[in-house]
Amino acid sequence: MLDALPRLPDDPILGLAAACRADPNPLKVDLTVGIYMDEDGVCPVFDAVRRAQDALVAEEISKAYLPPAGVADFNEGMQRLVLGADSAALADGRVSSIQAPGGCGALRIGAEIAHAAAPGARVWVSDPTWPVHIPLLGSVGLQFETYRYYEPATHGVNFDGMIEDLKAAGSGDLVLLHGCCHNPCGADLSQEQWGVIADMAEAQGFVPFIDIAYQGLGDGLEEDAAGLRQLAGRVPEMIIAASCSKNMGLYRERTGCTIFLCADADGAAAVLSQAKVAARRVYSMPPAHGALLAGRVLADAQLTELWQAELGQMCERINGLRSNLVEKLQGATGRDFEFIRKEKGMFSFLGLSKEQVERLRAEHSVYMLGSSRINVAGVNASNIDYLANAIATVL
Ligand code: LMR
Repeated sequence: MLDALPRLPDDPILGLAAACRADPNPLKVDLTVGIYMDEDGVCPVFDAVRRAQDALVAEEISKAYLPPAGVADFNEGMQRLVLGADSAALADGRVSSIQAPGGCGALRIGAEIAHAAAPGARVWVSDPTWPVHIPLLGSVGLQFETYRYYEPATHGVNFDGMIEDLKAAGSGDLVLLHGCCHNPCGADLSQEQWGVIADMAEAQGFVPFIDIAYQGLGDGLEEDAAGLRQLAGRVPEMIIAASCSKNMGLYRERTGCTIFLCADADGAAAVLSQAKVAARRVYSMPPAHGALLAGRVLADAQLTELWQAELGQMCERINGLRSNLVEKLQGATGRDFEFIRKEKGMFSFLGLSKEQVERLRAEHSVYMLGSSRINVAGVNASNIDYLANAIATVL
C-alpha cells in the first residue's frame, strides 16, 4: 500500500533551511525560515521565559493532560495581549479561546470551526500569502479566492486592487488578513486602511480571519494589534490565530491560541465547545510546556515587564537592521532599497528574479526563498557586507 506513494519535494521554506545547514561554506548566510537570530546567529531564549521555566521545573509535580481548552492563564493572557486589556468584546464576555499547537494549530482550529459553520466556505487570501496557509486551510475543505495585495513595482500594498477584489466577499465568506508584519512581503496596512476593511466587513458581512504571528516585532505590541482591534470593535464575529513562536521565542514549544469573537457570550461558549471537539478529533489536547511558560509570563507583572523590554529590544534591532541593510545595499548596488526601511517585521521581498536567487545560493551560499523573501533577522554585523556585495554581484 505505502509503496504507491511518490516522494514529494521538500517544503519550500524548511527544505531551504536544511540545504543551508548542510552547506559547508563558512560564509553562508541563512535568510530562510522566519526565526529571530541575534548578532551571533543564535535564536535566543528570552530571559523572562527562562525564569518562568526555572520556576515551572522547580514546582511541576505532574505531566497529566491539560484540560481540552489548555492553560487558563495562557488563554486569558493571550486574549488581553491580542485584543487589549480594555477590549469591549472582552468586557462583554463574547470572546472565547482555545490553546493550540502553535500558530499553525491555531489556524487549523479556526479553519475547522469556519468549515463546521459554513462547509466549504470561501477564504479570501492575499496575493501573496504565507504558502502554508493554502494546504493548512484547504485540507479542511475551505475554498480559496485571492485578493490583490503586494505591488512589486512600488514594493507596497496595492490597496485599490485589494478593495476592488474584496468587494466580491460577502456574508458566508472569510477574509484572511495578516494582523501585522505581513508574511512574506513585510508591507502592512495603515490604520486608515484597516478602517476601510472594517467598513467593508460591516457592510458586506464577511468574517475577518486574522493570522497574527508577529505581534511586537513591527512597531510594538500595542501598535501591531491596533488594526485587528479596530476590526474587533466593529464586527460581530472574528477568528484570530495568535502565536508565541516569534514574540516569546517559543518556536519549538508550539504555543498558539485561537480566539473567537462572537455575537454574544452564549455564541462564544458554543464555539468553544465546537473547538474542543475539533481539537479532540485532530490532536486530542495541546502540548503543555510552552503555554505554561507563556501563561506565567503573561500572568506575572515582573515577568511581563522583563519580556516586553526584551521584545522591544528585538524589535528595535530588526528595525535597525532594516536601516543598515538599506544603506549597505544602496552603497553596493547604487539602486534604491528604501522600501526595506518602511516594511514591518522579519520579512522583505528584495525583488530579485528566481535566477538571481539561485545564483546567490549556488555562487555565494546566500539562502533566501525563491520569491526573494529574506528574513531580515538573519542579517548581522558580520554578514551584512558579504550579503550586500553578493547581491550586487547578481544584480
Ligand atoms: C516562515 O514563514 O518562515 C515561518 O513562519 C516559519 C514557517 O513555519 O514557515
